[in-house]
Amino acid sequence: MAEPGETLLGGQEGGPVAAPCTLVIFGAAGDLARRKLVPALYNLSLDGVLPPSFAVVGFARREMGDEEFRAAGREGVDRFSRRVADAERWAGFERSLFYVTGSFGDPAAYQALRKRIEEIEPGFGIPGNRIFYLSVPPGEIVTCVQHLQAAGLLKRDAPGEPFSRVIVEKPIGHDLASAREIDGAVAAVCGERQIFRIDHYLGKETVQSLLVMRFANSIFEPLWNQKYIDHVQITVAEEEGVGTRANYYEGAGALRDMVQNHILQVLCLVAMEPPFEMTADVVRDQKVAVLKCLRAIPRGEDLERHVVRAQYAAGFQHGVEVPGYRREDRVKADSTTETYVALKAFVDNWRWAGVPFYLRTGKRLPKRASEIAVQFKDVPQMLFNASGTPIEPNVLAIRIQPDEGLSLRIATKLPGPRVRIYPVKMDFRYGSTFGDQSPEAYERLLLDVMAGDATLFMRRDAVEASWSWVNEILEAWQARGSRYLPEYPAGSWGPVEADRLIEADGRGRAWRTL
Ligand code: BG6
Repeated sequence: MAEPGETLLGGQEGGPVAAPCTLVIFGAAGDLARRKLVPALYNLSLDGVLPPSFAVVGFARREMGDEEFRAAGREGVDRFSRRVADAERWAGFERSLFYVTGSFGDPAAYQALRKRIEEIEPGFGIPGNRIFYLSVPPGEIVTCVQHLQAAGLLKRDAPGEPFSRVIVEKPIGHDLASAREIDGAVAAVCGERQIFRIDHYLGKETVQSLLVMRFANSIFEPLWNQKYIDHVQITVAEEEGVGTRANYYEGAGALRDMVQNHILQVLCLVAMEPPFEMTADVVRDQKVAVLKCLRAIPRGEDLERHVVRAQYAAGFQHGVEVPGYRREDRVKADSTTETYVALKAFVDNWRWAGVPFYLRTGKRLPKRASEIAVQFKDVPQMLFNASGTPIEPNVLAIRIQPDEGLSLRIATKLPGPRVRIYPVKMDFRYGSTFGDQSPEAYERLLLDVMAGDATLFMRRDAVEASWSWVNEILEAWQARGSRYLPEYPAGSWGPVEADRLIEADGRGRAWRTL
């Protein structure tokens, strides 16, 4: 809602309204809870948008009491929250945090969990609405859901009854078949509307504002097609290495970890047709339509002209020597897991016919930087470039993180008597325009689940459509064997093979310097 004295210029009145509920976090002793979920909930409480009747119950194998869970939460807030913990506000918030120790495969643990929830809820006036956040490895999702059902904690929503919702983390499965198996098992227990498949990239402010940029401005959309756009680049660069997550990452790799979900979701928002209304299913229908148009990556000799996978070797970051991937903790010494992937994708529909989408992501790159860059076609070779001196093309760059914002490169004349062309940037920065730090993705997403709004979550058909496309690549890699795995030094922008992938297309195309 607009603040007094402030005019709301279009947009939706009010924000999501969270229903009273208990949020049960499976895997509450893990990294995600400490770094992201508890800080997000705390920030929501500071903003006064949590429902007045609200409690959090952590559930994990690690032996811990409520007090220890609260202390771990406080430590997480101190280290990772965008706003510091205020002693009084934290004390008010932590009263709603509880913890139950239990193993995900043990039926008795679910009975204990149920008993505890039933003890807690009346004190907070919670009417039995429950959200189960399954921050567990993909292989455990089915176990958790089935045990929740058996314990009577999860059932199909019925009118007039309290709701139960399940949040599942990406990646859902490790290929199409396992994703279908998980989706099928979850669907056997609850309806699609009860399932929230989280992809935190969709909660990032800049990603959300993509649709606003496209459909709340009149100048971009008329140009947003193959007639005017030369190509699109989507980069998600990470500075970090695999860190402590090798157990998971070894079996995943960059394609499953980043492309199947985050990058394809961003691509959908860039490429989708305008939805006829901003409701969950209409928006998601348009996104799925994009995924269905993705051209299958060719196999055989042509494969590497469309996809390059690579692994980081030892190198230097900010002058400090860092080990190669195979020397990282819990990584196999002969691991063939890719930590980098670059792709050339096509969306075969009327709007995007022939426009390449170059996608790249990698760990241990020189910096953390995610960006969508839309490069427009060159002007005709006349007038200012008639002699053959190229003019830099217009590029609209949307910076997802850090330094969120967007810039438009345009050609201008250098002051002086001669006509000399110089590219300049029109630049908008969230930080300088709106001040303050943008809310974290998890804040918005958790609030949406409490409000029952699934617009920013992946629907089952979208997950399966993106797996279908990714599966083809996985199978092609498998058919080729693991012998082809270029390396790139940590701290570099990836292997030369990735440069060739884009440069081979001519027209001066190259990866952007970020
Ligand atoms: C996660 C991946 O989904 O996203 C990680 O599993 C990756 O490997 C992370 O580091 C990146 O998220 P962000 O928000 O830091 O860009």
